[in-house]
Formats: sequence, C-alpha cells, structure tokens
Amino acid sequence: MNTNAGEFLDSLESLDALGRPLKDLRISVTDKCNFRCPYCMPKEIFGANYEYLSKQSTLTSEEVVRSATIFRSLGISKIRITGGEPTLRMDLLEIIQGINSIGGIDIAMTTNGSLLTTLAQDLRRAGLGRLTVSLDAVDDTTFSKMSDVSISLDRVLDGLESARKAGFQPVKINTVIRRGWNENTILDLVDYCRKSGDIVRFIEFMDVGSTNNWEMSEMIASSQLLETIQGMYPLEAVSPNYMGEVASRYKFSDGKGELGFISSVSQPFCSSCTRARISADGKIYTCLFAVGSSLDLAHELRNGSTHREISEKILALWEKRDDRYSELRSSGPTKFTNDEKIEMSYIGG
Ligand code: GTP
Ligand code: 5AD
Ligand code: SF4
Ligand code: SF4
Repeated sequence: MNTNAGEFLDSLESLDALGRPLKDLRISVTDKCNFRCPYCMPKEIFGANYEYLSKQSTLTSEEVVRSATIFRSLGISKIRITGGEPTLRMDLLEIIQGINSIGGIDIAMTTNGSLLTTLAQDLRRAGLGRLTVSLDAVDDTTFSKMSDVSISLDRVLDGLESARKAGFQPVKINTVIRRGWNENTILDLVDYCRKSGDIVRFIEFMDVGSTNNWEMSEMIASSQLLETIQGMYPLEAVSPNYMGEVASRYKFSDGKGELGFISSVSQPFCSSCTRARISADGKIYTCLFAVGSSLDLAHELRNGSTHREISEKILALWEKRDDRYSELRSSGPTKFTNDEKIEMSYIGG
C-alpha cells in the first residue's frame, strides 16, 4: 500500500463533468444514532426491527484512515466525520488520530452533542479541528419533539459547554427549521448563540431520503427567516470563507458574532459542490441525493487493490459525475422516485 499522501496530487487531480473539483470528503462512520429526529430517523421506521449495517460490513478504523489517505492524495484537504451519530463509534478517537497523522487535512465532525461532556477533550487531543452540533431548539418541549428521545436538552447544552472549554471555538450549531414544529425557537437560538459565541446556521428542511414524510409546505425559506431575525437584530451579509461554502453568512451589525443560512431547497448550491461522501459500509456517493453508489470502496480495500488502482477508480467516477439534484428539483419534478433515495443517517449530513 502506498501511503505517500502527496505522490499523485499533480498527476491525478481532475474535474467532474460539470467542471467541479474534488475537494471535500465526508465520511459516515456509523448509520446508528441515539436520537430519533423525525425529519431524519422517524421512530416508526427506525424501530427495534430496523436492519442497521453489520459490524462486518462497516469499515474498520484502519480502512477509514486508508480511504482518507487515498482521498488526500487526490487533493482533498477537508474531511467531515458524520453518522448517524459518530460519537457512538467506540474507535472514533483512533479514526481521528489516524486521519490527523496523514497531515494537511482540516478535520471537522457533526454530532448531536449528547456524548460531548465526556468526549470533547479527547476529541480535541486526537486532532479534531472543528465541531458542529445539531441543535433544533433551546427549550425542553421543542427539543424533545424535534429529537424524539428522552435525552435531555441540558445534556446537550452541557456537552456544548465542554466542547467550548476543550477549545472548539466557535462551535457551529446546525438547526433544521420545520414549519409547525420549531419555528418558534428561532430568536431564542439566535440569543443563545449571541451569548455563547457559537455560530448558528439555519438549514432548510430537505427532501433527503424517503422516510421523513417531507412536504414542501413544511420548508421555511431562509429569506423569511432572515426577515424575522433582521426585525430583532440588524444583519450584514459577509462574503464566503471559501469558494463553494454551503452557508450564506451574515454578521450582527452590533458586532456580536455571525450566523448563517443553508438554503439547499430555495437556493441550491450544486454548481459549486465539491463534496464526495463515503457511507459507513464503504460505498462512495457523489451526491447526498444519489440513487446508488457506483464504487464499492470497501470491496476495493478488501480485495488487495493498490493505492493507485483505487485512486484511478475514484477519479474515473468523479470525472463522470454530473449530479445536481437540488438544482433539478427546483426546476421541476426530478427523475427519482422516493424509494430510491438513500437516507441521511446512512450517508451523513
Ligand atoms: P464547513 O463550512 O466546513 O464548516 O461545513 P459546512 O458549512 O459544509 O456545514 P456542514 O458540513 O455541517 O453542513 C451543514 C448542513 O448542510 C448539512 O447537515 C446538510 O443538511 C447541508 N449540506 C451540506 N452539504 C450539502 C450538500 O452537498 N448538498 C445539500 N443539498 N445539502 C448539504
Ligand atoms: N433536512 C435538512 N437537514 C437535515 N439533517 C438531517 N436530516 C435533514 C433534513 N431532512 C441535518 C441535521 C444534522 C445533519 C447531520 O444533517 O441537522 O445537522
Ligand atoms: Fe441522529 Fe442527527 Fe439524524 Fe437527529 S439528525 S436522528 S441526531 S443523525
Ligand atoms: Fe451537491 Fe448533490 Fe447537494 Fe447538489 S444536491 S449540492 S450536487 S450533494
């Protein structure tokens, strides 16, 4: 196996069929979660009889790190660890340490925050650079409705505090807004983050997967949220941190921090999408809304394929990539039926 991260950088870098480079990798390390947010893992479907991935089919920590090494050599410089809930993975620290030792990678993770009180410091020491916590409300009643488990809001807020103390500053907060469920909490979340120094990003409820009963009528466009927040706190648009940033950023005019909007339904950002995704069972997907994977990385890793052979297969897949689901959705009915779409808990946010 060749582990020299830089070796193929110049020779193999490439663009997809729509001219987009491969820059960003998201790795789902488990399809399990200890929450049951109805917009992601509704209890009726993800109940006692749901068949999760087996241990054998799930990539080991060594396989995850080897995958990251291969992608690094193809030019990616950012990896986001996702799930399901990544902190449920017992060997999470090994995975992060391993990716950190490759070098040159900005490592971020998205979590529901429920296990951060005990884990935050170790995650930091292992080399995790940035942390995003999903938090859909800051009042107990709405939080329980949105997460649909008995884990308390306080436990997540304590986890957030531990994360800040461990050096994750600012933490990003991901909030999915669903009409009729949690729009009452928007200004409270803004207040909370202005005080804590976190950066809240309001996410439009997306039609990802096929089990969350998505309805367009439950999606509140970012433009409407912006108007509501502006009524309380004047905001000024800020330019993106990097080309293709998913969130549109705004800073508070009084200097007390910033917030963002992720508007993948009302303002799709496919034209600058540079993300590839690996599921916990090692399939590569080139879109969050993909119907299937055309590269079984786990099979390649377990079959004796060399670093170069796997790299070439990934590049061949990337060169063919013409995904732009969110743009197609906004311009009319899509070619996909609901049952074909992969679940967010399987492929990560
Ligand atoms: P950084 O800029 O690296 O901090 O991360 P990010 O802004 O990309 O944020 P994050 O990775 O946390 O993504 C936030 C949310 O945006 C996800 O949970 C998804 O809901 C949504 N999202 C992220 N990437 C995509 C994408 O490629 N397509 C769509 N449709 N939604 C996405
Ligand atoms: N729409 C928008 N965002 C979603 N997430 C999960 N399901 C959806 C959906 N249907 C986001 C959560 C979390 C991340 C893992 O994915 O907010 O931050
Ligand atoms: Fe779990 Fe996150 Fe999905 Fe909620 S949104 S069920 S916390 S993976
Ligand atoms: Fe990228 Fe697919 Fe999301 Fe468009 S819908 S931004 S192509 S992941």
